[in-house]
Parts: sequence; C-alpha cells; structure tokens
Amino acid sequence: MMNIGLLGFGVVGRGVYEQIEKRSDLHVSRVLVRRDIPEISAIATRDFEDIITDSSIHTVVEVLGGLHPAYEYISAALRAGKHVVTANKAVVSAYYQELTSLAQKNGVALRCTAAVGGGIPWLVNLERCCRLDTVDEVCGIMNGTSNYIMDAMHKSPVNFDEILRKAQELGYAEADPSADIDGDDIRRKLVISANIAFSTLLREEDVPMFGIRTVTDRDIAAFQKRGCVCKLIATARRTPDGVAAWLEPTLVSANSLEAAVPANYNLISFQSQYLGRQSYFGQGAGRFPTASNVTQDCLDIMGGKTAFYAPAGEALTLHNDTVRHAYYVRTNCADPWLAAHTREQMVPGVLTDEVSVEEMHAWAKAQLQRDSSCFIAALG
Ligand code: HSE
Repeated sequence: MMNIGLLGFGVVGRGVYEQIEKRSDLHVSRVLVRRDIPEISAIATRDFEDIITDSSIHTVVEVLGGLHPAYEYISAALRAGKHVVTANKAVVSAYYQELTSLAQKNGVALRCTAAVGGGIPWLVNLERCCRLDTVDEVCGIMNGTSNYIMDAMHKSPVNFDEILRKAQELGYAEADPSADIDGDDIRRKLVISANIAFSTLLREEDVPMFGIRTVTDRDIAAFQKRGCVCKLIATARRTPDGVAAWLEPTLVSANSLEAAVPANYNLISFQSQYLGRQSYFGQGAGRFPTASNVTQDCLDIMGGKTAFYAPAGEALTLHNDTVRHAYYVRTNCADPWLAAHTREQMVPGVLTDEVSVEEMHAWAKAQLQRDSSCFIAALG
C-alpha cells in the first residue's frame, strides 16, 4: 500500500483523488488545500509540514501548478526521502537540473509523465526508447488549449476570446492562458522532452517561440486555399554540434497526421535510429486524462521505478542557425529584411525564401514591437 500526500485539489487533484479512492493499493492520507473542501475535511490540511513530517507518507503528489510554492514543496519532499510525482511542467522545466540531481542524491523517484502530453504516456515511452536507442528528434503538438483553438478556427471563423473561454471552462487552459497561446507551456514540455531525449540541459529562455495570439481567420483561409493546415508545433533536434530547439505555428499538409489532430488532443513524436518515427496521440489536457498519468506514475513507483527518466545530462549548445525553412509572414509594417527575403505573395501575407530559425525568430521578435499584429508560420 502506498500512502500519498496530495498537494492540491483543483481540476487534476480531484481527478487523482477520485481514481485513487477506487483502489486498494494506493491511499491518499493527507491533502494540502487552500480552502475548505467538506468532502475531504478529515484528511485536509493547510500546512505542508503535516505532510512532510508524516513518516507514513512515502510519496508526495504535487498538482498545485505554478512555480511557487510547488518548487519548495517538491525539493523538501525529495530531501526528506519521499518519492515525488508531479504534473507541473513549469517547475520541472525551470529546475530540471536541481530537482533531478536531488532525486538521484536521495535515491527517490521524480516522475512527471502528466507534465508533457496530459494523458499520453509520452515520457515513459521516450524513457523506454532512450535506454536502447538514439533519439534524433522530438516534436509535435504539445498543447491542448492552442490545438483546440486552431482546430476550431479551421472549422469555421471564430471569436478567439470566446473559444479560449470555452477551453478554460473545459479545464484545458493554464491558470494564465497566455502560457497556452504564446507558447510558454509548450516550451516547458519541449525542454523536458529534449533534456530526457538528448541527456542535455536546455534552458527555457534559450528556446525561441512564436505563438498563435495573432493568427487571423484570413490567414487560415489563405492556408486552406493552399491545402495546408496550421498547427503550433514544437521541435528539438540533434545537430552535428549540439541541438536545435524551437516552436512556431507550422503549415502542414492537409493529409498529415498533425493536420488530423482535433480539439484538445496532442500528437507527440520521436525519430530514433532503430524505430524511425513513432507518434503518440491522445488527450493532452483535461481532468481524467491528466490524472491518469499521475496515478500511473504512482503505480510505476510501486512497481520499482524509483528514478527519473534519464541520467543526468550536460549542456549542449543550441544551434538554431543550422535549421532553415521558408515562412509565411503577415505584417502591416513594411520591412527591408522581409522585402529582401520575399519569394512570393500569399495574401494577406508573403512567403519567404529559406531562412534559419534563428534569424526568423529574431526578426519576428523585433517586428512584433513595430507591428503587434504580425504573424509567422513555418512551411513544414
Ligand atoms: N494547458 C495545458 C494544455 C494543460 O492545454 O495542454 C496540459 O498541460
């Protein structure tokens, strides 16, 4: 029997509690809450000390979200020799090196399968692949909320704020949904996946991103006219001298696997030397899909998985200058760099010749200061 201290009773926490209560091998002994919740009053506490000092609790499940106090609680639990399961990509990505070493030093598990891909068993399969094979690329659709919005926009013209509100009501969106729209949430998932896949230590702030905040119905209509679908795609790839990593709206063929991903679903793939491309599809957000991976992590720990997914990594240099492709660009502010790189018109935007990811993201970041409605999408 595994006694669990559950930190948080929000969308995911409640789902975890409900799943665990149906089992005889897992038991939630205490729940850290921020407000009174009558149905769990007998085990609820507002004081983390009640959990960390309870020697009968061997596993702490953190589903509070946000960096603080989640980081402090997770570190304290690992130091106290408790296994930790978390769905918190913000903490794992930001404190990757520190938390993975802390888990290793204390001989306990740090598992975060729900942090990348919600209900998809992506990280456990990536771990399994890496123990035998060499992964050359991880990529895909890693955010349910933004996919939900893009999918709706391809079906009929929609009001962006309205559809975002719907995703929030369905429990898909982050507390601050700008993380879903602008890419921060995806970047965290990409960093965790790449660090495991390549045994490295990418830092979030080094990975360029462009989100979907500025996409319009006219852009989508132009893409559809060309037989394309626009998806927000994250990629990390081995390069001869290091790694490349970025995320951006990407035009994929209407026949591709990515184009078919509906609603809050994610599609995450790796490319490895023995297996070639392998893809994982499922619900990337939502109460029970996400809770399932949290509960599965607890079961894996009981089954003997008492470490992180990959051995300690070392920093690799980011080489986004080595990856080049063409881009769709729409801006209402003329620019000499864009004029020099324009290959053809694609109203309401233009198509560029092949430019490096590094160069395009640097240009787009600067252009957004001049024209906050600017939008770019890579030609996949
Ligand atoms: N807000 C996230 C998403 C939740 O929409 O994918 C799951 O990480």
